[in-house]
Amino acid sequence: MDIWKFFDITHREHVVCNPTSEEKLARLVGLLRLPTDAQVVDIACGKGEFLIRLAEAYGVRGTGIDISSFHVADAERTLKARVSNAGVTFTAMDGADFQPDEPHSLDLASCIGASWVFGGHANTLEALINMVNPGGWVIVGEPYWRQEPSDDCLEAYGFAREDLGSHSSNAEAGEQRGLNLVHTIVSSQDDWDTYEGLQWFATAEYARTHPDDPDLAELVERVSKAKANYLRWGRDAIGWAIYLFRSRSAA
Ligand SMILES: C[S@@+](CC[C@H](N)C(=O)[O-])C[C@H]1O[C@@H](n2cnc3c(N)ncnc32)[C@H](O)[C@@H]1O
Repeated sequence: MDIWKFFDITHREHVVCNPTSEEKLARLVGLLRLPTDAQVVDIACGKGEFLIRLAEAYGVRGTGIDISSFHVADAERTLKARVSNAGVTFTAMDGADFQPDEPHSLDLASCIGASWVFGGHANTLEALINMVNPGGWVIVGEPYWRQEPSDDCLEAYGFAREDLGSHSSNAEAGEQRGLNLVHTIVSSQDDWDTYEGLQWFATAEYARTHPDDPDLAELVERVSKAKANYLRWGRDAIGWAIYLFRSRSAA
């Protein structure tokens, strides 16, 4: 089954494609206090909700990048409906290939929930640091171990222990690179339950309304396995946070 079709179906009920509630996303947007016409990029932007809210709140200019043409089409539709005159565009491409016109030229660079694009959390921070100007924002969303994972948990998820850090090591990775951590937005179990549970709901709806899709059996099997893993292991073991880092001003 095409992987982007899989994510399109499983995330049809989501506005935000990560375990952050819409209320917490509003807190993130409110804290950024960007100047009008700030230049921004959101790598792996999903359906574009973060960038669209930045355009609504501050009139930012910039780009959302996502590899899924399904998500980019959703983002373009929502942008047109909510801020049709925005200086924001969405592009379907591999986020690893994005470069701003000039290094250190953006007011904000973000990658929320897709650090594999750059080869992990530390490399994501390095990549985004090179995009922002002194005083600019580096915003990353990253999972972390809430508790030491059991071997069964690692096997179920196909993870190595070192694939995720702890909440404090995620934060320290930015500080070690000269960033100032000014806030974190940490998801609750309710936020996680909503993010995971909407995937089960969307899949059940799709199965009910598309009984003849040849991909249905694989879709349902994959979601059932992910549901069991989450209920048995992930719900207790894995946390999620968005880290608000500010690059230090030259002065
Ligand atoms: C967990 S979702 C997060 C989406 C969005 N940042 C949000 O929080 O709503 C991960 C996103 O990464 C995108 N993605 C995966 N690999 C990518 C790549 N190599 N380049 C760009 N986007 C990618 C997926 O299409 C998906 O939209």
